Amino acid sequence: MTVTAIACANIALVKYWGKRDSSSLNVPQAGSLSVTLDALRTTTQIELSDTSNDLLYLDEHEVTGKALSRVTAHLDLFRSTTDPRAIVRTSNSFPTAAGLASSASGFAALTVAASAVYGHSHSKRDLSILARRGSGSAARSIFGQYALMNGGVQSDGLDAYAEPLPQIKFPLCAVIAVAKAGPKDIGSTEGMKHTYETSPYHQPWIELVSRDLMTAQTALQNDDFMTLAECVEGNCLAMHANAMASRPGIIYFSGTTLEAISTVRNLRINHGVEVFFTIDAGPHVVAFTRPSSVDEVAKALSQIPGVTQIIRSEMGEAAHLT
Ligand code: DP6
Repeated sequence: MTVTAIACANIALVKYWGKRDSSSLNVPQAGSLSVTLDALRTTTQIELSDTSNDLLYLDEHEVTGKALSRVTAHLDLFRSTTDPRAIVRTSNSFPTAAGLASSASGFAALTVAASAVYGHSHSKRDLSILARRGSGSAARSIFGQYALMNGGVQSDGLDAYAEPLPQIKFPLCAVIAVAKAGPKDIGSTEGMKHTYETSPYHQPWIELVSRDLMTAQTALQNDDFMTLAECVEGNCLAMHANAMASRPGIIYFSGTTLEAISTVRNLRINHGVEVFFTIDAGPHVVAFTRPSSVDEVAKALSQIPGVTQIIRSEMGEAAHLT
């Protein structure tokens, strides 16, 4: 038996950075709010097999080690020890090496495919909870458009799931400035653990997230671009300030990142373009803008030295079987 699922990555407007349970339950300390992006897609096929172990292929190359163990641990959430093993073939529509939210689309696609191939009929909420255990941000990629992650309070993590926000009709497009990555960045899992353990700013950051979640949702509902822009940029900079304040400090920005930040702000403040930035655990800058301003934003970002690629994206659809 073989099934295939597709999921889009997402970029958070209000970010997840900290876990209240870092066991295999992987429960966030706070909520988050994201936009699913059409251009960043993962396609994952699972074939049940009589091999003694799972096999993993990324873009047709066999992958072993830590990545394979993480996939096996995830598949184990859907099967018993006597169920058949799996051959997992996965590919991304975007450069995996660029470190762009591939765990979000990857674990969302894997969750949807694994649920189907092992004969379950999980609800979307259950799929979101299961995807979260693979990667926190993947819980949001179960849904299209805007998704709100609930941090929850229960120790079993059953109230930590994402849900769609269909009432929000705020069309945003993303223009991603892919920056040359430095020597291997510290991954989000490790980065947020180190921040949680050593940053004096971590508690204020967690408190800020609940306020930003309210502000961002109200701004999206009222089509209030300026309030949204200030909230999203502020939330991103606060997350990074928190990571930078850990010891030793984690710095994801490169010179190119700072140039792109200033380009986005210049477009908005001096040229009246509705655009704002956000940045995840790497040097790339995601600019969000109205559909009518995509070309202007893409042109400005492409001229920055160190920007190696521009990816344009509309909002994406929910994860699904093909
Ligand atoms: C900066 O979801 O990759 O992109 O749960 O450990 O897999 P794990 O972390 P992950 O963290 C994402 C961090 C972020 C912000 C966000 O997407 O909300």
